[in-house]
Amino acid sequence: MATLNPIFRSNRMKLGVMAINCSGGSTVTTAPEAWPMTWSDNVKLARMVDQAGFEALLPVGRWKGYGGSSNFNNRTFESFTWAAGIGAVTKQIAVLSTIHAPLVHPVMAAKQAATIDHITDGRFVLNVVCGWFRNEFEMFDAEWREHDRRYDYAAEWLRLCRRLWTETESFNFEGEFFHGKDLWSEPKPVQRALLPVMNAGSSLIGQRFSAENCDMNFVMLRQKNEESDRAQIYQLKQMASAAGRHSGCWIHGYAVIRPTQKEAEAALERYVVQFGDDEAVNNMLSIFGMESETLEPSVMDAFRFHFKAGHGGYPLVGTPKKVVDDMVRLADMGVDGILLSWLDYLGECAQWIEEVIPLMEAAGLRAPASS
Ligand SMILES: Cc1cc2nc3c(=O)[nH]c(=O)nc-3n(C[C@H](O)[C@H](O)[C@H](O)COP(=O)(O)O)c2cc1C
Repeated sequence: MATLNPIFRSNRMKLGVMAINCSGGSTVTTAPEAWPMTWSDNVKLARMVDQAGFEALLPVGRWKGYGGSSNFNNRTFESFTWAAGIGAVTKQIAVLSTIHAPLVHPVMAAKQAATIDHITDGRFVLNVVCGWFRNEFEMFDAEWREHDRRYDYAAEWLRLCRRLWTETESFNFEGEFFHGKDLWSEPKPVQRALLPVMNAGSSLIGQRFSAENCDMNFVMLRQKNEESDRAQIYQLKQMASAAGRHSGCWIHGYAVIRPTQKEAEAALERYVVQFGDDEAVNNMLSIFGMESETLEPSVMDAFRFHFKAGHGGYPLVGTPKKVVDDMVRLADMGVDGILLSWLDYLGECAQWIEEVIPLMEAAGLRAPASS
């Protein structure tokens, strides 16, 4: 292995970018600045954050749009072929792919992952997802297992992948879900058994799977009070360390940075309320099973706002200083990294690099990027 995978670096608050392989990115809006998603923009953004020393680029695994006038996420680059291309044009950042475990056999996935790990010389990370949206599985005519069973399936799927990444003799596999004869895969990944795996399960069983099997875990902070958010992170880290892992705890967040708090809030309000795509977000919430008949209107409204603003991520809204103060608080709570999204990815990411990163460095959250 050439170097340590970037997601394991020592920066107190690691940074990544989320969903640039999807039209609209993470923002459910018809505002004209929304991410149109072209290959040339993907390359521009990937190179920009690579040079700025960000740690991770995460593509989302999504197979169809959500309707509405934005048809949010209707156009998506497939995440392994995306990662192979992005890996070849970047130098230091970790490149992820998102795999729906029930849709791809581990023999295929293990080899795809190993191939990208060679292209990137050990910068690959695999995001294993079990299925979030039933309507995607219907496209594949794939079995939609009961929620917790999906995680049993993923655990065996990953066990088989890891054997393919490490074992130098062919082997037979007799599991509950997979059976195979003389299994074999070469070349091994550059990172071999250490090839990192991400999972963002948020249910108890999802978090347990993530903590016990993965290197990059996620929490969805409820933001009701700091104590309960801190407890959520502590519990996830405890589960990981009980399983002998020292996994990082990440969140995803959407950023709106302006010279004043008032301007930042107005910019957010504009793309969420004036231009937000309510039809797409209602479709999304109904696929999640969150219908307005079962939830209070105020709760539904809060969800809608939050999902239009940045796919339910953590809000980083305000002046550069205020947002850096927020990130210091998050780091103190135990958050190790944030996957970011913006409305105007190229423009606002450049602004983040120019205005926010120096303050993060001054606050001890990050060391300057080595050129
Ligand atoms: C940062 C992040 C990225 C995710 N990426 C995907 C994805 O690309 N495709 C997908 O189907 N699900 C994705 N998910 C959904 C999770 O894998 C998981 O299914 C969801 O958080 C619900 O948790 P549960 O499965 O434990 O109920 C993502 C979630 C988060 C927070």
